[in-house]
Amino acid sequence: MSVVVDEMLTPIASELVEFERRLEESVAADFGPMADAMQHIVRAGGKRLRPALVLLSASLGTPDRDHVFNLAMGIEFIHTATLVHDDLIDNARTRRGITTIHETAGVNPAIIIGDYYFAKGANLLASIGEPSIDRAISNTMMTICMGELLQLTSRGDYDQSLEDYYRKIARKTAALVETCCYGGAVVARLDEVRAEALRQYGYLIGMAFQIVDDLLDYTATAAQLGKPVGADLRQGTVTLPLMLALQDTTNGRALREVLDRMHLGDGDYERVVELVRGSGAIERTEALAHDFAQRARAQLVVFEPTSARETLARVCDFVVDRST
Ligand code: IPE
Ligand code: IPE
Ligand code: MG
Ligand code: MG
Repeated sequence: MSVVVDEMLTPIASELVEFERRLEESVAADFGPMADAMQHIVRAGGKRLRPALVLLSASLGTPDRDHVFNLAMGIEFIHTATLVHDDLIDNARTRRGITTIHETAGVNPAIIIGDYYFAKGANLLASIGEPSIDRAISNTMMTICMGELLQLTSRGDYDQSLEDYYRKIARKTAALVETCCYGGAVVARLDEVRAEALRQYGYLIGMAFQIVDDLLDYTATAAQLGKPVGADLRQGTVTLPLMLALQDTTNGRALREVLDRMHLGDGDYERVVELVRGSGAIERTEALAHDFAQRARAQLVVFEPTSARETLARVCDFVVDRST
């Protein structure tokens, strides 16, 4: 197995390699058909942002090494399970550059495999024996479900407020990133002030990260992302770039005209993407993502200037500057 570690994560490169080894070993120990399906998506990689945040947050204290890895693996399994179910809901054909599980194994196995890895993730976290982590993760899983449901029920609602949008992405994405950092603080036995700063940092990074994910859905290519682009619009999922483009003085009205059509065809979707890209919404979305990332960085002042703090600061740049 080869692990490509982003240059930014060099200080924790060997820990990330060990994380991959343990993750692979843990999947291999699962029931055959379950392991087979999961192995593909685990081996396909992903950015491993969440495990990296666990490792970095925990390295601000003096944690038990097995606890850190179990936390990182548990959260990565829960994250992967949300992707398996999210792709099923969205009918996505690819993820991490490979065919999705519901496409290869079928819908029912994908539901079961997702459920299994939610539970497996929670089980790994329970092995740490910290009730505050168990409370945080069960709460987070409930929150993600609320976010996903909110997203479903607000499909096609072009008039939702910025607050509605923020509430949605806070639940579906930022909650789990927050738990990575908070969990890291708990296993590292950091005091309450530092644990709270890390929790806030994670929340703000998660917000910036999802805003950029929503932006890339309009600006990137499928090859870059390893998953379909333009998918949000086709599914009626209204995200920040579209919301801001609708307010745009030059393209807003033309955009509204297209969206008000009864049935949108391929040409209409292409036109919407073109109008969003040609509006000031792209820069405004980037600026809002930068605001969240800056606020995340500001949380780090309570820590000594160590290499872990420096890397956490660089993550603030990474989440907004990324193109994959
Ligand atoms: C995808 O998460 C789901 C979102 C919250 C946008 P990632 O973009 O972190 O997915 P991987 O793990 O790198 O594949
Ligand atoms: C994240 O949102 C999904 C979850 C948190 C489960 P997206 O729907 O934007 O994720 P992608 O774009 O499919 O990766
Ligand atoms: Mg999706
Ligand atoms: Mg997306």
